[in-house]
Amino acid sequence: MTHPVLTALGLNAAESGTYLGNGEWSGTRDAGVLESVNPTNGEVLAKVHASSQSDYDTIVERAQAAFKVWRTTPAPRRGEAIRLCADALRRHKDALGSLVALEMGKSKPEGDGEVQEMIDIGDFAVGLSRQLYGLTMHSERPGHRMYEQWHPLGLVGVISAFNFPVAVWAWNSFIAAICGDITIWKPSPKTPLSAVASMKICNEALKAGGFPDIFFLFNDAGTELASSFVDDKRIPLISFTGSTKVGRIVGERVARRMGRSLLELGGNNAIIVDPTADLKLAIPAIVFGAVGTAGQRCTTTRRLFVHESIYDDVLAKLVTAYKQVEKKIGDPTDPANLMGPLNSRDAVQAYLDAIEQAKAAGGKVETGGAAIERAGNFVLPAIVTGLSNDADIVQHETFAPILYVMKYRDLADAIHMQNDVPQGLSSAIFTQNLKAAEAFLSAAGSDCGIANVNIGTSGAEIGGAFGGEKETGGGRESGSDAWRAYMRRQTNTINYSDALPLAQGIKFDL
Ligand code: UN1
Repeated sequence: MTHPVLTALGLNAAESGTYLGNGEWSGTRDAGVLESVNPTNGEVLAKVHASSQSDYDTIVERAQAAFKVWRTTPAPRRGEAIRLCADALRRHKDALGSLVALEMGKSKPEGDGEVQEMIDIGDFAVGLSRQLYGLTMHSERPGHRMYEQWHPLGLVGVISAFNFPVAVWAWNSFIAAICGDITIWKPSPKTPLSAVASMKICNEALKAGGFPDIFFLFNDAGTELASSFVDDKRIPLISFTGSTKVGRIVGERVARRMGRSLLELGGNNAIIVDPTADLKLAIPAIVFGAVGTAGQRCTTTRRLFVHESIYDDVLAKLVTAYKQVEKKIGDPTDPANLMGPLNSRDAVQAYLDAIEQAKAAGGKVETGGAAIERAGNFVLPAIVTGLSNDADIVQHETFAPILYVMKYRDLADAIHMQNDVPQGLSSAIFTQNLKAAEAFLSAAGSDCGIANVNIGTSGAEIGGAFGGEKETGGGRESGSDAWRAYMRRQTNTINYSDALPLAQGIKFDL
Protein backbone atom coordinates (compact mmCIF):
# COMPACT_ATOMS: atom_id res chain seq x y z
CA MET A 1 0.00 0.00 0.00
CA THR A 2 1.26 3.46 -0.86
CA HIS A 3 2.23 5.38 2.27
CA PRO A 4 -0.29 8.18 3.06
CA VAL A 5 2.50 10.77 3.05
CA LEU A 6 3.15 9.90 -0.61
CA THR A 7 -0.54 10.00 -1.46
CA ALA A 8 -0.83 13.48 0.06
CA LEU A 9 1.74 14.66 -2.46
CA GLY A 10 0.25 12.79 -5.40
CA LEU A 11 3.19 10.37 -5.55
CA ASN A 12 2.87 6.72 -6.56
CA ALA A 13 4.74 3.56 -5.67
CA ALA A 14 6.70 3.96 -8.90
CA GLU A 15 7.84 7.33 -10.19
CA SER A 16 9.98 8.61 -13.02
CA GLY A 17 13.14 10.25 -11.71
CA THR A 18 13.64 12.36 -14.81
CA TYR A 19 12.03 15.69 -15.57
CA LEU A 20 12.66 16.45 -19.22
CA GLY A 21 10.94 19.83 -19.44
CA ASN A 22 7.78 20.67 -21.38
CA GLY A 23 5.78 19.09 -18.56
CA GLU A 24 7.24 15.71 -19.52
CA TRP A 25 8.51 13.07 -17.10
CA SER A 26 10.61 10.48 -18.90
CA GLY A 27 9.16 7.08 -19.73
CA THR A 28 12.58 5.41 -19.38
CA ARG A 29 12.20 2.14 -17.52
CA ASP A 30 15.42 0.34 -18.39
CA ALA A 31 18.13 2.53 -16.84
CA GLY A 32 17.89 1.05 -13.35
CA VAL A 33 15.73 1.71 -10.33
CA LEU A 34 16.45 3.63 -7.16
CA GLU A 35 14.63 2.31 -4.13
CA SER A 36 13.46 4.90 -1.66
CA VAL A 37 13.82 3.03 1.63
CA ASN A 38 12.12 4.07 4.84
CA PRO A 39 15.01 4.10 7.35
CA THR A 40 12.55 3.61 10.21
CA ASN A 41 11.62 0.07 9.17
CA GLY A 42 13.61 -0.82 6.07
CA GLU A 43 10.51 -0.95 3.86
CA VAL A 44 10.60 0.29 0.30
CA LEU A 45 8.45 3.43 0.06
CA ALA A 46 8.61 3.69 -3.72
CA LYS A 47 10.72 2.93 -6.74
CA VAL A 48 12.15 5.75 -8.76
CA HIS A 49 13.20 4.95 -12.31
CA ALA A 50 16.67 6.24 -13.08
CA SER A 51 17.57 8.31 -16.14
CA SER A 52 19.20 7.11 -19.33
CA GLN A 53 22.02 8.74 -21.28
CA SER A 54 19.50 9.95 -23.83
CA ASP A 55 17.34 11.48 -21.06
CA TYR A 56 20.42 13.33 -19.88
CA ASP A 57 21.20 14.58 -23.39
CA THR A 58 17.62 15.78 -23.83
CA ILE A 59 17.76 17.63 -20.51
CA VAL A 60 20.98 19.46 -21.33
CA GLU A 61 19.73 20.43 -24.82
CA ARG A 62 16.41 21.70 -23.47
CA ALA A 63 18.14 23.49 -20.60
CA GLN A 64 20.40 25.25 -23.08
CA ALA A 65 17.39 26.36 -25.11
CA ALA A 66 15.59 27.48 -21.94
CA PHE A 67 18.61 29.54 -20.90
CA LYS A 68 18.44 31.56 -24.13
CA VAL A 69 14.98 32.76 -23.11
CA TRP A 70 15.51 33.01 -19.37
CA ARG A 71 18.72 35.05 -19.49
CA THR A 72 16.91 37.99 -21.10
CA THR A 73 13.81 37.75 -18.91
CA PRO A 74 14.00 40.73 -16.52
CA ALA A 75 15.34 39.67 -13.14
CA PRO A 76 12.32 40.97 -11.15
CA ARG A 77 10.10 38.89 -13.45
CA ARG A 78 12.33 35.89 -12.68
CA GLY A 79 11.73 36.76 -9.02
CA GLU A 80 8.00 36.47 -9.60
CA ALA A 81 8.55 32.86 -10.75
CA ILE A 82 10.30 32.05 -7.49
CA ARG A 83 7.60 33.82 -5.49
CA LEU A 84 5.13 31.33 -6.96
CA CYS A 85 7.41 28.41 -6.04
CA ALA A 86 7.73 29.66 -2.45
CA ASP A 87 3.95 30.09 -2.22
CA ALA A 88 3.38 26.55 -3.50
CA LEU A 89 5.87 25.26 -0.94
CA ARG A 90 3.98 27.09 1.80
CA ARG A 91 0.83 25.22 0.78
CA HIS A 92 2.67 21.88 0.74
CA LYS A 93 4.91 22.48 3.76
CA ASP A 94 3.27 19.93 6.02
CA ALA A 95 3.16 17.16 3.38
CA LEU A 96 6.65 17.76 1.99
CA GLY A 97 8.06 18.12 5.51
CA SER A 98 6.55 14.73 6.36
CA LEU A 99 8.04 13.15 3.24
CA VAL A 100 11.50 14.51 4.09
CA ALA A 101 11.10 13.12 7.62
CA LEU A 102 9.90 9.79 6.27
CA GLU A 103 12.50 9.28 3.55
CA MET A 104 15.55 10.88 5.17
CA GLY A 105 14.72 9.96 8.76
CA LYS A 106 14.92 13.39 10.38
CA SER A 107 12.27 14.42 12.90
CA LYS A 108 8.99 15.90 11.63
CA PRO A 109 9.76 19.40 13.03
CA GLU A 110 13.16 19.26 11.31
CA GLY A 111 11.54 18.06 8.07
CA ASP A 112 9.12 20.99 8.25
CA GLY A 113 12.05 23.25 9.12
CA GLU A 114 13.83 22.12 5.99
CA VAL A 115 10.84 23.08 3.85
CA GLN A 116 10.76 26.39 5.73
CA GLU A 117 14.36 26.95 4.58
CA MET A 118 13.14 26.50 0.98
CA ILE A 119 10.37 29.05 1.55
CA ASP A 120 12.78 31.48 3.22
CA ILE A 121 15.38 31.26 0.47
CA GLY A 122 12.54 31.74 -2.02
CA ASP A 123 11.51 34.98 -0.30
CA PHE A 124 15.14 36.05 -0.14
CA ALA A 125 15.55 35.35 -3.87
CA VAL A 126 12.46 37.41 -4.72
CA GLY A 127 13.94 40.47 -2.99
CA LEU A 128 17.35 39.79 -4.45
CA SER A 129 15.90 39.77 -7.95
CA ARG A 130 15.81 43.57 -7.71
CA GLN A 131 19.22 43.85 -6.08
CA LEU A 132 21.76 42.17 -8.36
CA TYR A 133 23.94 45.22 -7.99
CA GLY A 134 27.18 45.98 -9.76
CA LEU A 135 29.56 48.79 -8.85
CA THR A 136 30.46 51.92 -10.77
CA MET A 137 34.07 53.04 -10.72
CA HIS A 138 35.72 56.34 -11.57
CA SER A 139 37.72 56.01 -14.74
CA GLU A 140 41.23 57.44 -14.77
CA ARG A 141 40.53 58.75 -18.30
CA PRO A 142 38.53 61.92 -19.05
CA GLY A 143 35.19 61.39 -20.77
CA HIS A 144 35.06 57.74 -19.77
CA ARG A 145 32.67 55.82 -17.63
CA MET A 146 33.42 52.49 -16.00
CA TYR A 147 31.12 50.06 -14.30
CA GLU A 148 30.54 46.37 -13.80
CA GLN A 149 27.47 44.30 -14.42
CA TRP A 150 26.44 40.78 -13.57
CA HIS A 151 25.12 38.48 -16.26
CA PRO A 152 23.58 35.01 -15.98
CA LEU A 153 26.12 32.21 -16.06
CA GLY A 154 24.20 29.47 -17.89
CA LEU A 155 23.39 25.97 -16.69
CA VAL A 156 23.96 25.19 -13.03
CA GLY A 157 24.45 21.57 -11.97
CA VAL A 158 23.35 20.77 -8.43
CA ILE A 159 24.44 17.52 -6.77
CA SER A 160 22.82 17.33 -3.35
CA ALA A 161 23.16 15.04 -0.34
CA PHE A 162 20.63 12.87 1.48
CA ASN A 163 20.73 14.83 4.74
CA PHE A 164 19.15 17.99 3.34
CA PRO A 165 17.35 16.43 0.41
CA VAL A 166 15.34 19.52 -0.59
CA ALA A 167 16.66 22.71 1.07
CA VAL A 168 20.12 22.63 -0.50
CA TRP A 169 18.55 22.32 -3.96
CA ALA A 170 16.37 25.35 -3.20
CA TRP A 171 19.33 27.39 -1.92
CA ASN A 172 21.03 26.80 -5.24
CA SER A 173 18.22 26.67 -7.75
CA PHE A 174 16.15 29.61 -6.45
CA ILE A 175 19.12 31.95 -6.34
CA ALA A 176 20.37 30.62 -9.70
CA ALA A 177 16.89 31.18 -11.17
CA ILE A 178 16.69 34.87 -10.27
CA CYS A 179 20.25 35.21 -11.58
CA GLY A 180 18.93 33.98 -14.96
CA ASP A 181 20.34 30.45 -14.85
CA ILE A 182 18.74 27.07 -15.50
CA THR A 183 19.32 24.34 -12.91
CA ILE A 184 19.82 20.65 -13.52
CA TRP A 185 19.53 18.62 -10.32
CA LYS A 186 20.98 15.25 -9.47
CA PRO A 187 19.76 14.39 -5.96
CA SER A 188 21.15 11.78 -3.60
CA PRO A 189 20.21 8.22 -4.61
CA LYS A 190 18.99 7.78 -1.02
CA THR A 191 16.32 10.47 -1.22
CA PRO A 192 14.96 10.52 -4.79
CA LEU A 193 11.31 10.85 -3.78
CA SER A 194 11.79 14.12 -1.91
CA ALA A 195 13.45 15.45 -5.06
CA VAL A 196 10.61 14.28 -7.33
CA ALA A 197 8.04 15.83 -4.98
CA SER A 198 9.86 19.19 -4.82
CA MET A 199 10.18 19.32 -8.61
CA LYS A 200 6.48 18.56 -9.03
CA ILE A 201 5.43 21.28 -6.60
CA CYS A 202 7.68 23.92 -8.15
CA ASN A 203 7.12 22.98 -11.78
CA GLU A 204 3.35 23.00 -11.39
CA ALA A 205 3.56 26.45 -9.81
CA LEU A 206 5.76 27.71 -12.66
CA LYS A 207 3.45 26.27 -15.28
CA ALA A 208 0.33 27.74 -13.66
CA GLY A 209 2.06 31.13 -13.63
CA GLY A 210 2.89 30.87 -17.32
CA PHE A 211 6.63 30.50 -16.74
CA PRO A 212 8.95 28.29 -18.80
CA ASP A 213 10.97 25.37 -17.47
CA ILE A 214 13.89 26.49 -15.34
CA PHE A 215 14.39 23.34 -13.25
CA PHE A 216 15.35 19.91 -14.59
CA LEU A 217 15.95 16.63 -12.75
CA PHE A 218 17.78 13.39 -13.39
CA ASN A 219 18.60 10.43 -11.20
CA ASP A 220 21.54 8.14 -11.73
CA ALA A 221 21.33 4.44 -10.92
CA GLY A 222 25.12 4.25 -10.82
CA THR A 223 27.71 7.00 -11.10
CA GLU A 224 28.16 7.18 -14.87
CA LEU A 225 25.72 9.99 -15.61
CA ALA A 226 26.80 11.98 -12.57
CA SER A 227 30.37 11.59 -13.69
CA SER A 228 29.69 12.93 -17.19
CA PHE A 229 27.65 15.73 -15.58
CA VAL A 230 30.75 16.83 -13.64
CA ASP A 231 32.85 16.73 -16.81
CA ASP A 232 30.23 18.39 -19.03
CA LYS A 233 31.62 21.63 -20.48
CA ARG A 234 28.11 22.87 -21.18
CA ILE A 235 27.61 23.28 -17.43
CA PRO A 236 29.72 26.19 -16.20
CA LEU A 237 28.98 25.66 -12.50
CA ILE A 238 28.68 22.48 -10.48
CA SER A 239 27.44 22.94 -6.93
CA PHE A 240 28.25 19.84 -4.91
CA THR A 241 27.23 19.01 -1.35
CA GLY A 242 28.61 15.83 0.18
CA SER A 243 31.73 14.20 1.56
CA THR A 244 35.19 15.70 1.31
CA LYS A 245 36.33 12.51 -0.43
CA VAL A 246 33.90 12.87 -3.34
CA GLY A 247 34.05 16.69 -3.29
CA ARG A 248 37.78 16.59 -3.87
CA ILE A 249 37.25 14.52 -7.04
CA VAL A 250 34.43 16.81 -8.22
CA GLY A 251 36.50 19.95 -7.58
CA GLU A 252 39.53 18.58 -9.40
CA ARG A 253 37.55 17.43 -12.41
CA VAL A 254 35.57 20.64 -12.78
CA ALA A 255 38.81 22.65 -12.45
CA ARG A 256 40.42 20.56 -15.20
CA ARG A 257 37.79 21.80 -17.65
CA MET A 258 38.08 25.34 -16.22
CA GLY A 259 34.56 25.19 -14.86
CA ARG A 260 33.50 26.59 -11.51
CA SER A 261 32.64 24.45 -8.55
CA LEU A 262 30.85 25.37 -5.37
CA LEU A 263 31.75 22.84 -2.71
CA GLU A 264 29.96 22.24 0.58
CA LEU A 265 31.83 19.34 2.15
CA GLY A 266 32.44 17.83 5.56
CA GLY A 267 32.54 19.62 8.88
CA ASN A 268 34.10 18.74 12.24
CA ASN A 269 32.38 21.41 14.23
CA ALA A 270 33.22 22.29 17.80
CA ILE A 271 31.70 24.22 20.69
CA ILE A 272 33.82 25.83 23.40
CA VAL A 273 32.18 26.23 26.81
CA ASP A 274 34.04 28.75 28.94
CA PRO A 275 33.75 29.16 32.75
CA THR A 276 31.24 32.03 32.44
CA ALA A 277 28.90 30.18 30.05
CA ASP A 278 25.16 30.21 30.75
CA LEU A 279 24.56 26.47 30.89
CA LYS A 280 20.81 26.94 30.49
CA LEU A 281 21.66 27.93 26.92
CA ALA A 282 24.74 25.81 26.37
CA ILE A 283 23.36 22.37 27.31
CA PRO A 284 20.33 22.37 24.98
CA ALA A 285 22.41 23.92 22.20
CA ILE A 286 25.03 21.20 22.51
CA VAL A 287 22.42 18.45 22.60
CA PHE A 288 20.52 19.81 19.57
CA GLY A 289 23.81 20.33 17.74
CA ALA A 290 25.10 16.82 18.44
CA VAL A 291 21.90 14.78 18.33
CA GLY A 292 19.62 16.76 15.99
CA THR A 293 19.11 15.03 12.61
CA ALA A 294 20.80 12.07 14.37
CA GLY A 295 24.17 13.76 13.87
CA GLN A 296 23.74 13.87 10.10
CA ARG A 297 24.11 17.58 9.44
CA CYS A 298 27.33 18.94 8.03
CA THR A 299 27.01 21.48 10.87
CA THR A 300 26.50 18.81 13.59
CA THR A 301 28.48 19.44 16.79
CA ARG A 302 31.14 16.71 16.89
CA ARG A 303 33.65 18.11 19.40
CA LEU A 304 33.18 19.90 22.70
CA PHE A 305 35.86 21.77 24.63
CA VAL A 306 34.83 22.45 28.23
CA HIS A 307 36.81 24.52 30.71
CA GLU A 308 38.28 22.24 33.37
CA SER A 309 36.56 24.16 36.21
CA ILE A 310 33.07 23.18 34.97
CA TYR A 311 33.91 20.00 33.07
CA ASP A 312 32.38 17.47 35.51
CA ASP A 313 29.20 19.50 35.86
CA VAL A 314 28.75 19.95 32.09
CA LEU A 315 29.43 16.28 31.39
CA ALA A 316 26.91 15.16 34.03
CA LYS A 317 24.26 17.51 32.66
CA LEU A 318 24.86 16.29 29.13
CA VAL A 319 24.59 12.63 30.10
CA THR A 320 21.29 13.40 31.85
CA ALA A 321 20.01 15.23 28.78
CA TYR A 322 21.05 12.35 26.50
CA LYS A 323 19.02 9.94 28.67
CA GLN A 324 15.98 12.16 28.03
CA VAL A 325 16.64 12.07 24.28
CA GLU A 326 16.87 8.26 24.41
CA LYS A 327 13.21 8.19 25.48
CA LYS A 328 12.28 10.11 22.34
CA ILE A 329 14.01 8.12 19.63
CA GLY A 330 11.62 6.61 17.10
CA ASP A 331 9.50 7.10 14.03
CA PRO A 332 10.51 10.56 12.82
CA THR A 333 7.06 11.30 11.42
CA ASP A 334 5.74 11.27 15.01
CA PRO A 335 6.27 14.91 16.09
CA ALA A 336 6.86 13.79 19.69
CA ASN A 337 10.18 12.18 18.76
CA LEU A 338 13.41 14.15 18.94
CA MET A 339 15.59 11.73 17.01
CA GLY A 340 14.95 9.35 14.15
CA PRO A 341 17.07 6.63 12.59
CA LEU A 342 20.30 6.98 10.67
CA ASN A 343 19.62 7.07 6.96
CA SER A 344 21.20 3.73 6.02
CA ARG A 345 22.63 0.47 7.31
CA ASP A 346 26.06 1.69 6.17
CA ALA A 347 25.70 4.71 8.43
CA VAL A 348 24.95 2.43 11.40
CA GLN A 349 28.07 0.43 10.61
CA ALA A 350 30.17 3.61 10.33
CA TYR A 351 28.82 4.70 13.74
CA LEU A 352 29.68 1.33 15.33
CA ASP A 353 33.14 1.34 13.72
CA ALA A 354 33.85 4.83 15.02
CA ILE A 355 32.83 3.81 18.56
CA GLU A 356 35.16 0.80 18.36
CA GLN A 357 37.98 2.96 17.06
CA ALA A 358 37.40 5.51 19.82
CA LYS A 359 37.53 2.77 22.48
CA ALA A 360 40.65 1.25 20.98
CA ALA A 361 42.32 4.66 21.15
CA GLY A 362 41.54 4.88 24.88
CA GLY A 363 38.19 6.67 24.70
CA LYS A 364 35.49 6.14 27.31
CA VAL A 365 31.88 5.91 26.15
CA GLU A 366 29.93 7.90 28.77
CA THR A 367 26.52 7.19 27.26
CA GLY A 368 25.14 5.50 24.15
CA GLY A 369 27.50 3.77 21.78
CA ALA A 370 25.28 0.96 20.52
CA ALA A 371 22.66 0.26 17.88
CA ILE A 372 19.10 -0.14 19.15
CA GLU A 373 17.69 -3.66 18.78
CA ARG A 374 14.69 -3.09 16.60
CA ALA A 375 13.77 -2.67 12.94
CA GLY A 376 15.31 0.35 11.24
CA ASN A 377 18.64 2.08 11.54
CA PHE A 378 18.37 3.34 15.10
CA VAL A 379 21.38 4.05 17.32
CA LEU A 380 21.87 5.62 20.74
CA PRO A 381 23.55 9.02 20.65
CA ALA A 382 27.03 8.73 22.14
CA ILE A 383 29.31 10.87 24.28
CA VAL A 384 32.97 9.88 24.29
CA THR A 385 35.59 11.30 26.67
CA GLY A 386 39.26 10.65 27.25
CA LEU A 387 40.51 11.24 23.71
CA SER A 388 42.72 14.09 22.66
CA ASN A 389 41.90 16.35 19.74
CA ASP A 390 44.63 14.83 17.62
CA ALA A 391 43.26 11.27 17.91
CA ASP A 392 42.61 9.96 14.42
CA ILE A 393 38.89 9.35 14.98
CA VAL A 394 38.38 12.83 16.46
CA GLN A 395 39.96 14.37 13.37
CA HIS A 396 37.40 12.58 11.17
CA GLU A 397 33.80 13.42 10.39
CA THR A 398 31.65 10.38 11.23
CA PHE A 399 28.13 11.18 10.01
CA ALA A 400 26.39 9.99 13.20
CA PRO A 401 25.58 11.27 16.70
CA ILE A 402 28.96 10.94 18.40
CA LEU A 403 30.26 13.80 20.53
CA TYR A 404 33.88 13.89 21.70
CA VAL A 405 34.16 15.88 24.93
CA MET A 406 37.54 17.33 25.90
CA LYS A 407 38.87 19.55 28.70
CA TYR A 408 40.83 22.77 28.36
CA ARG A 409 42.54 25.25 30.65
CA ASP A 410 43.42 28.28 28.46
CA LEU A 411 41.06 29.76 25.89
CA ALA A 412 43.92 30.12 23.42
CA ASP A 413 44.48 26.34 23.61
CA ALA A 414 40.78 25.66 23.12
CA ILE A 415 40.69 27.89 20.03
CA HIS A 416 43.83 26.23 18.74
CA MET A 417 42.31 22.75 19.17
CA GLN A 418 39.01 23.81 17.64
CA ASN A 419 40.91 24.96 14.54
CA ASP A 420 43.29 22.03 14.51
CA VAL A 421 41.26 19.73 12.23
CA PRO A 422 41.24 19.43 8.43
CA GLN A 423 37.67 20.84 8.16
CA GLY A 424 36.46 24.42 8.74
CA LEU A 425 32.68 24.70 8.60
CA SER A 426 30.99 25.77 11.84
CA SER A 427 32.06 26.71 15.36
CA ALA A 428 30.66 28.26 18.52
CA ILE A 429 31.57 29.56 21.94
CA PHE A 430 29.35 29.81 25.00
CA THR A 431 30.56 32.65 27.18
CA GLN A 432 29.38 35.79 28.92
CA ASN A 433 32.85 37.23 28.81
CA LEU A 434 33.15 39.88 26.11
CA LYS A 435 36.88 39.39 25.76
CA ALA A 436 36.51 35.65 25.21
CA ALA A 437 33.74 36.17 22.63
CA GLU A 438 35.73 38.75 20.70
CA ALA A 439 38.94 36.69 20.84
CA PHE A 440 36.98 33.76 19.39
CA LEU A 441 35.63 35.95 16.55
CA SER A 442 38.91 37.76 15.88
CA ALA A 443 41.33 37.16 13.03
CA ALA A 444 43.26 34.93 15.43
CA GLY A 445 40.06 33.12 16.50
CA SER A 446 37.91 30.52 14.80
CA ASP A 447 39.05 29.66 11.28
CA CYS A 448 35.59 28.42 10.23
CA GLY A 449 33.10 29.83 7.73
CA ILE A 450 30.56 30.07 10.57
CA ALA A 451 31.45 31.26 14.09
CA ASN A 452 28.70 31.78 16.67
CA VAL A 453 28.44 33.13 20.20
CA ASN A 454 25.89 31.63 22.59
CA ILE A 455 24.18 29.58 19.90
CA GLY A 456 25.22 26.19 18.61
CA THR A 457 26.98 25.11 15.43
CA SER A 458 23.97 23.87 13.46
CA GLY A 459 20.75 25.43 12.28
CA ALA A 460 22.12 28.40 10.35
CA GLU A 461 19.66 30.94 8.98
CA ILE A 462 19.45 31.32 5.21
CA GLY A 463 20.24 35.06 5.25
CA GLY A 464 23.96 34.54 5.81
CA ALA A 465 26.43 32.95 3.42
CA PHE A 466 26.72 29.26 4.27
CA GLY A 467 29.92 27.28 3.86
CA GLY A 468 33.38 26.72 5.23
CA GLU A 469 37.11 26.71 4.76
CA LYS A 470 39.85 24.11 4.30
CA GLU A 471 38.50 20.64 3.50
CA THR A 472 34.95 21.96 3.78
CA GLY A 473 35.63 23.23 0.27
CA GLY A 474 35.45 27.03 0.47
CA GLY A 475 32.04 27.42 -1.20
CA ARG A 476 29.38 29.85 0.00
CA GLU A 477 25.69 29.33 -0.70
CA SER A 478 22.38 30.78 0.41
CA GLY A 479 22.26 34.38 1.64
CA SER A 480 24.47 37.49 1.70
CA ASP A 481 26.22 37.92 -1.68
CA ALA A 482 26.49 34.17 -2.42
CA TRP A 483 24.43 34.94 -5.57
CA ARG A 484 27.60 36.12 -7.27
CA ALA A 485 28.74 32.52 -7.69
CA TYR A 486 25.82 32.01 -10.09
CA MET A 487 26.63 34.95 -12.35
CA ARG A 488 29.47 36.18 -14.50
CA ARG A 489 30.96 39.60 -13.89
CA GLN A 490 31.60 41.95 -16.74
CA THR A 491 33.61 45.17 -16.52
CA ASN A 492 32.52 47.85 -18.99
CA THR A 493 34.39 51.00 -19.97
CA ILE A 494 32.62 53.50 -22.18
CA ASN A 495 34.35 56.40 -23.94
CA TYR A 496 32.03 59.32 -24.57
CA SER A 497 34.83 61.77 -25.48
CA ASP A 498 36.35 62.63 -28.87
CA ALA A 499 39.79 61.39 -27.88
CA LEU A 500 41.32 57.98 -27.29
CA PRO A 501 43.48 58.31 -24.19
CA LEU A 502 45.10 55.02 -23.18
CA ALA A 503 45.14 53.77 -19.63
CA GLN A 504 48.29 54.17 -17.58
CA GLY A 505 49.08 57.27 -19.69
CA ILE A 506 50.62 55.18 -22.45
CA LYS A 507 51.40 57.09 -25.67
CA PHE A 508 50.83 55.29 -28.95
CA ASP A 509 50.95 58.03 -31.61
CA LEU A 510 50.47 56.79 -35.15
C1 UN1 B 1 23.90 20.54 5.61
O1 UN1 B 1 23.99 19.82 6.60
O2 UN1 B 1 24.32 20.15 4.48
O3 UN1 B 1 22.86 25.08 9.33
C2 UN1 B 1 23.25 21.87 5.60
C3 UN1 B 1 22.22 24.03 9.25
C4 UN1 B 1 21.23 23.91 8.13
C5 UN1 B 1 21.87 23.48 6.86
C6 UN1 B 1 22.78 22.31 6.96
N1 UN1 B 1 20.60 25.18 7.93
O4 UN1 B 1 22.38 23.11 10.01
